[in-house]
Amino acid sequence: MKTGIGMEPQRIDHLFDSAEARFDQWRRLHKACQSWAGSVGKQGAAARKAASTALFGEIVPAEDFHAYPGARLLATLRDRIDGDDAMGATRLVQRISQALILRSYRRDASEWDAHDDPTGHADLTPLPTMEAGGRPYFEVLYVVPTPPARWPAYSQQVRRLRRSQDQFIYEPVFVGNLEDAVLATLLNPQIQAVVIHEGFPWASTHNLPLLSEVLGATLGVDPLTVGPGDHGLTLARVIKSVRPEVDLYLLDDCRPEDVVSDPAASGLRRVFYEVEEPLEVHLAILEGVDERYRTPYFDNLKKYAQKPMGTFHALPIARGKPVFRSDWIRDMGEFYGPTLFLAESSATTGGLDSLLEPTGNIKLAQDAAARAFGADKVFFVTNGTSTSNKMVYQALCQPGDIVIVDRNCHKSHHYGCVLAGAQPYYVEAFPLTAYSMYGSVPLRTIKKALLDLKAAGRLDKVRMLALTNVTFDGHLYDTRRVMEECLAIKPDLVFLWDEAWFGFGRFNWLYRRRTAMGARQQMTEWFADPRSLEAYLQQEKAFGADLDPADARLLDARLVPDPRLARIRVYQTNSTHKSMSSLRQGSMVLVGDQDFHHHEAPFHEAIFTHASTSPNLQIIASLDVARRQMELEGYELVTHAIALAIEIRKDINTHPLVSKYFRVLEPAEMIPAEFRPSGLASYTDPDVTWAQALEAFRHDEFVLDPTRLTLVCGTAGYDGTQFKGILAADYEIQLNKTSRNSVLLQTNINNTRSDVANLLRVLVEISRKIDAGLKDGGAPVQAAFAKRVKSLMEDVPGLPNFSRFHDRFRSDPSVSTLEGDMRSAFYMAYREECCEHLELHDPEVDRRIKEGPPLVSANFVIPYPPGFPIMVPGQVIEADTIEFMRKLDVKEIHGYDATLGLKLLRPDALA
Ligand SMILES: Cc1ncc(COP(=O)(O)O)c(C=O)c1O
Repeated sequence: MKTGIGMEPQRIDHLFDSAEARFDQWRRLHKACQSWAGSVGKQGAAARKAASTALFGEIVPAEDFHAYPGARLLATLRDRIDGDDAMGATRLVQRISQALILRSYRRDASEWDAHDDPTGHADLTPLPTMEAGGRPYFEVLYVVPTPPARWPAYSQQVRRLRRSQDQFIYEPVFVGNLEDAVLATLLNPQIQAVVIHEGFPWASTHNLPLLSEVLGATLGVDPLTVGPGDHGLTLARVIKSVRPEVDLYLLDDCRPEDVVSDPAASGLRRVFYEVEEPLEVHLAILEGVDERYRTPYFDNLKKYAQKPMGTFHALPIARGKPVFRSDWIRDMGEFYGPTLFLAESSATTGGLDSLLEPTGNIKLAQDAAARAFGADKVFFVTNGTSTSNKMVYQALCQPGDIVIVDRNCHKSHHYGCVLAGAQPYYVEAFPLTAYSMYGSVPLRTIKKALLDLKAAGRLDKVRMLALTNVTFDGHLYDTRRVMEECLAIKPDLVFLWDEAWFGFGRFNWLYRRRTAMGARQQMTEWFADPRSLEAYLQQEKAFGADLDPADARLLDARLVPDPRLARIRVYQTNSTHKSMSSLRQGSMVLVGDQDFHHHEAPFHEAIFTHASTSPNLQIIASLDVARRQMELEGYELVTHAIALAIEIRKDINTHPLVSKYFRVLEPAEMIPAEFRPSGLASYTDPDVTWAQALEAFRHDEFVLDPTRLTLVCGTAGYDGTQFKGILAADYEIQLNKTSRNSVLLQTNINNTRSDVANLLRVLVEISRKIDAGLKDGGAPVQAAFAKRVKSLMEDVPGLPNFSRFHDRFRSDPSVSTLEGDMRSAFYMAYREECCEHLELHDPEVDRRIKEGPPLVSANFVIPYPPGFPIMVPGQVIEADTIEFMRKLDVKEIHGYDATLGLKLLRPDALA
């Protein structure tokens, strides 16, 4: 049986089916029952009944892991199917299907009733008490050793605990073994808490090959070798590793004190003595969810907005009076509504707190974010990750420190170096020349940089490694491996992971291991494990305690750090607004640095330098709310975004017409084979399984984030900018980045299946037009089209690498390492007498490249696309960069004025 990533779900442990895949199954069952109900003739009816029975059989196992429709409705449905009641089965399936899609079962108790018309019927078992609208709904998983026949009674006991003053309402879901418990937590995103009763067995009665692999990899345990015994703490560990946000409660009949002292119990929220008052467990569950639900800053801002307030300070727009009283700007008030203005203030009193030195609600909100994102500390930033990055550079680097940095990183890193006076040592990502883009920086390149710096006696100057994870185009690092291997060479290296696009990665277990904070957690656990020291001592035997930079074997060996020396110092910046529900410019700095106490004061200086003294309250509140959402439904939303992305890939790449002109690039095209030892080449090939994708996420040097889709449009005769314009102007579809022959689509937590359907519709329409145009235009049009496609797909300019800094900006020109004093070059360009201009096509440019004196860039030159600086201040410009500039056909080039030409530092100023 094929269970490819892009295939329809066929097996219970198909881990990334979206909620919609479940809805689809119910819809298919509905169609099957409808067709059965409408069939004429005995034979036809029998065949259609068989089809409905088979579909029902496929649906049922996974439904065990959801509260709704639940055992009673499923039993009724089974009875109707078995009893040849095709009409009754159809009605019930339709009702269940709609209740699932509309989520009405969360509010409307009648959806749980087995009768089609609940009035006049009294079900034997009481229905859950629910009320319209109102309280947020979730589900709680109970893992119990008791036989399933006892579960309905337990279920009723749980429901009877509900009180009208409860803030939330929840429904129980029961499973009887560890494997089913893990599966339920993975498959049912509504589960917010797990109540574990000790004494349950390990193995499921379902056939779960994929889950067994996941468990094996997560726990390092072969399920077949597990013996009898208590698995409560093991289960807690697995659930924490896949969904850390879920609250765990253990009910044990041993002394709870003994359990708590077991280190494995650290993931439990509470331990109860088995016979304790069930109401206590109920209250603990509600409190646990409330802790995540609470948004200290936003809650207070709402209260603040309700208060009558006289203001005698700045920000007259606060409370909206000048807006609503004005004849001239009232429309603004009508557009935004009064709440926005009531929630505006320039005060830091009234619980509003100060972003620059938070001690109240902002601090509480930041602490909650630290919990959610797995960091020690979080700083909210209201000027985007452009500012977050600069803050980190300023806080951690002193003038003269070396930062190893991906040359293709966001400009804030380059400017961060200028502001902090740090010397960038640029490392190059692997190129994807055919699509005019770069990938990520190979670990070998990073290690070589560190070893070269060591050989040059400059390792002590190296402060930080800064990398972009995920890159714009979807390349994800093996963050743990990068950090461990670098720490083997330089044990106090600081890591800045620019996860501007990847903040959401924390909330799905597939991604989490590749986030900065996920890797930090794994490293912390590993360094505390005695096996890490053994591994290091093995390496020491082979390579010595002091690694010799001349030893070429080091580049290929999997280096391990000395856990006694290595410091875990990890920073992450993320544009919360790019992947979560924050207003624009909402960003965070996550700190996971065991030596942060040495940097606390500089960090505050950096905040004072960069943060506005008038931060936008709505942005701060939205950061708080974005955190709440991700802690409560991030798992569902991110899983859904992945599922949609796979669907888009499959739809486009297999559509007979669309795939003639368009294609979404697969891992094989985005990541060279040498970085993909797993061999994972495609997310849509039906022979590829999730097990292979997991293997890639575990071991490959780079993996492709499935939610970032590079759509090749050059084969349809469009360059990226042109195609982006057409989609926006003619079809109201917006997207972000383009390259010479592609555009980047991205699925996010906001996308729906309708978006996917609309995109496909548009691509079909465009493909049809191209098809018709080519047919009607005959040979001349076809030849012109082929020429255009060839030009876009084959005549692509080579991507220039960073050359070198001019000797004037190198501390020691006699050493071969690449770092340079970019800041001095940057400021030299402020002096007009030090600068000159040369037109790009002036033959003098070519002459000077050949004969000198060298051309030295006075500033950053950043074309969009590709969006990274192809020249930086102080860089010697070489022929490939000039050729690239001359071939560039983009309009937007920051730092370059075509009428003046290249801005250069004059040779006499450099003398
Ligand atoms: C990798 C990377 N880092 C940082 C930023 C800056 O983020 P922001 O737009 O939040 O200032 C961007 C923006 O696109 C980015 O792509």
